Amino acid sequence: MVRLRVNDSELAYQVEGNGPPLVLLHGHPFNRSMWRPQLQALSNSYRIVTPDLSGHGESDVVDPVTMDQMAADVVALMDNLQIERAVMGGLSMGGYVALALYKRFPLRVRSLVLANTRASADSDEGRSNRERVAKKALSEGMEAVAEEMIPKLFAPATLKSRPEIVATVREMIINSKPEGVVAAQRAMAQRQDHTRFLPEIIPPILIIAGAEDQLIPAKEAVVLHRESPGSRLEIIEGAGHLSNIEQAEQFNRILKEFLDDLEP
Ligand code: MLT
Repeated sequence: MVRLRVNDSELAYQVEGNGPPLVLLHGHPFNRSMWRPQLQALSNSYRIVTPDLSGHGESDVVDPVTMDQMAADVVALMDNLQIERAVMGGLSMGGYVALALYKRFPLRVRSLVLANTRASADSDEGRSNRERVAKKALSEGMEAVAEEMIPKLFAPATLKSRPEIVATVREMIINSKPEGVVAAQRAMAQRQDHTRFLPEIIPPILIIAGAEDQLIPAKEAVVLHRESPGSRLEIIEGAGHLSNIEQAEQFNRILKEFLDDLEP
């Protein structure tokens, strides 16, 4: 792990492998370690950069923060690593950041990988739920947040027969900082709706969804695909919200095929 000072805070990140750069942005409330299955499968052909986004993992908490600020942190990290353009992949919140990054810094993006995510903003109900979760993290702690989240995060078969995956993700959640959860939930509540912007995206887009995702249903991916001309959509059976972990082999195969087909 390495740390980079960006503005007044420190961002933790990891770089592994050799080849064209691939930046992977984790979801919430997780950290860069959620990309382990992709590092194992792809780091022999790609240089994979995995930051802990602001307030997550070993990065400092910045409050208030925005999706745009998280995107600017990632660009500062790319500058530091002398990466001009990269494939930008994000899962869930990571996807919100990837879209914000493309909107502000389109020339830094070679292609987009949007997994278990959406382009729309929150409903009023979604925003008040975020405030509730933020308060719960502060008053009851991350164990309570994990108890609430775990049943919604996975496909039923993962919950039932993959205890090691459930335990690893639980560990990630309970090790998250409540103050980071507060800042990120409020940042997500304020994020822009990017749906109308999707047709303007030029680089190739791969969209991945989990057929059994309860948090961001696969129909959101269908909207992303419909609004992004030329995008490729893959819906993975037997996957919930964390498709890259629950169905790692399939996820990696789809991702590798897409990456290998990109123009240099
Ligand atoms: C995530 O996994 O990043 C979250 O589910 C995103 C969200 O709360 O909208």
